[in-house]
Amino acid sequence: MSESTIFSAPAGWALHYFPETGSTNDLARDAGEAGAPERTIFVTDHQTMGRGRQGRSWLEVPGSGLLFSILFRRHQSQSFLLTSLCSVAACEAIDRLAGVHTEIKWPNDLMLSGRKLSGVLTEVSWAPGNPFAVVGMGINVNFNPTALDGVPDNAISLLMASGREIPRAGLLNEILRQIDLLIDMEPSKTEAVVRSRWVERLWRRKQRVVIAEGGKALDGVFEDVAEDGALLLRLEDGSLQTVRVGDLVI
Ligand code: BTN
Repeated sequence: MSESTIFSAPAGWALHYFPETGSTNDLARDAGEAGAPERTIFVTDHQTMGRGRQGRSWLEVPGSGLLFSILFRRHQSQSFLLTSLCSVAACEAIDRLAGVHTEIKWPNDLMLSGRKLSGVLTEVSWAPGNPFAVVGMGINVNFNPTALDGVPDNAISLLMASGREIPRAGLLNEILRQIDLLIDMEPSKTEAVVRSRWVERLWRRKQRVVIAEGGKALDGVFEDVAEDGALLLRLEDGSLQTVRVGDLVI
């Protein structure tokens, strides 16, 4: 049996595997619109139209990355909380299985040795009577992403960092187990625990950074994050700027 056919999920999850699809986020959105329950997950070995934030695409070597999207029906109005919850769960699972230390680049990239390992794309549907959120993750596992046309040079994979192949099925199962642990807490506890673990892992917090925001570059010290996840940047003139949408460049 090839590794791609053995993805499994902990009890209580409904896992759907496709060898190839356009985007797992689309599969999860369609399932959400059709009324599928929380903890429905779509996994694939290859996306033909994998997408990222801000209109970017997400690429992988077929059968070598971890590509999945999860349907949530709890906390769906707090897309930032769901994004951070999945980022924290993935970091904890990756660290445990690959023996590395991952960080989170605000707002939601997973970083390893200062390079991008994984991206998260959260999409929310507000249809009356049927609200849900989809969190999609792409993780570079057993290939060299920088060898792909269109992937920035600062990408990294678990294979490159650890020097060995990491079983994708085991990694997915552990990520879902970590998600269960966080989401099954009492809601206010979920929020507090996720926030503190997310903040602990924030890349370059308290350091000088440059943020690309709507075509301009903002220079300052990454002071903290607000309750809603916005980045608080201390500018040269001492004022504090709240950044809600942007890219942390360095
Ligand atoms: C980003 O870094 O901008 C986010 C990338 C998100 C990629 C994942 S792969 C699985 C899911 N399906 C998609 O089309 N995108 C997400």
